[in-house]
Amino acid sequence: MARSVLLTGGAGYIGSHTYVALIEAGYHVVIIDDFSNSKASVLSRLSQLTGVNRVSSYEGSVLDPAFLDQVFDAHDFDAVVHFAAKKAVGESTEIPLEYIEVNCSGLLNLLKVMKGRGVRRLVFSSSATVYGEPEELPIHEDAPRGYTNPYGFTKLMGEQILEQAAAADPAWAFGILRYFNPVGAHPSGLIGEDPSDIPNNLMPYIAKVAAGDLPHLGVFGSDYDTPDGTGVRDYIHVCDLAEGHVQSLSKLIETDDGHTVNLGTGNGLSVLEMLAAYGRACGRDLPYEMKPRRPGDVAACYAEASRARALLGFEATRGLDDMCASSWHWITTGSKDA
Ligand code: UD1
Repeated sequence: MARSVLLTGGAGYIGSHTYVALIEAGYHVVIIDDFSNSKASVLSRLSQLTGVNRVSSYEGSVLDPAFLDQVFDAHDFDAVVHFAAKKAVGESTEIPLEYIEVNCSGLLNLLKVMKGRGVRRLVFSSSATVYGEPEELPIHEDAPRGYTNPYGFTKLMGEQILEQAAAADPAWAFGILRYFNPVGAHPSGLIGEDPSDIPNNLMPYIAKVAAGDLPHLGVFGSDYDTPDGTGVRDYIHVCDLAEGHVQSLSKLIETDDGHTVNLGTGNGLSVLEMLAAYGRACGRDLPYEMKPRRPGDVAACYAEASRARALLGFEATRGLDDMCASSWHWITTGSKDA
């Protein structure tokens, strides 16, 4: 019988791609989402993409224990994949308490209901942000942790909550996945990153410039100690990232033992390299202006990717041109009437 998985935040950017990967891997998946940063129309897209007749989903928040109880009453889950959280770094500096509430209390609520039902496997969305200001590159999982903003604080605290729980009770099995910079979209063009606000992150901003919605990219810093002076990051295709969740989940099911891994490619790309690649995808050179460094940014950040390979068999296979082409396909097709 198919294993049953609860996907919190399953209508969001990474959640929706992971839904597709889980269905393709043969799981039965139930989504919960409060649609605070996603649209209900994603559900029919997921149905169209996967052939699942009616996507099983509930509208509600991880901050509502009674809601979680209802969902767990209705299903017999083998595991949870937990995405539902707030993720905008800038916003987190303005409303830190909301970030702590949603990201940390939400996780606690989930763990409590899981424990009550004997569901002990959870895949957790962590982030390279837990490395704070990295001292060494590439960043190894055993590197010192820290945070530079409230969002980062909540991700670090999330990891620590899970570590405390697992130390006290070995029945827990947690897959802690530290994402580097997720970009791109499903090749169908039906799901992708919601482009509604003015984006803070690089790829969605470039996409808006390519679409003509914004005049040019501001490149934050041209005097970093990097090959071309601009910031270097480890961009990973969201479909690779989604498959990483499936591998983490099957490892948890196989071993009932937890793991903490980086999900990245291991390669750093500069802002100008990203811009040039997106220009190739959309067929024109994209305008940019050099700006001062953005406060809080580091020069370079990329993963030591070998632990995920050794432990989970994870390998990012989609390259830079695929990341940009799939994003552009989504922007010019599916995002328009989403
Ligand atoms: C940011 C967050 C990180 C979060 C991640 C999610 C900060 C300080 N960090 O990472 O905690 O986990 O997003 O994906 O916000 N850039 C420009 N112009 C732009 C936007 C970005 O030049 O308009 C540059 C940045 O300076 C950086 C690179 O592009 O060098 C990537 O930036 P971004 O996409 O915001 O990701 P991170 O800063 O790596």
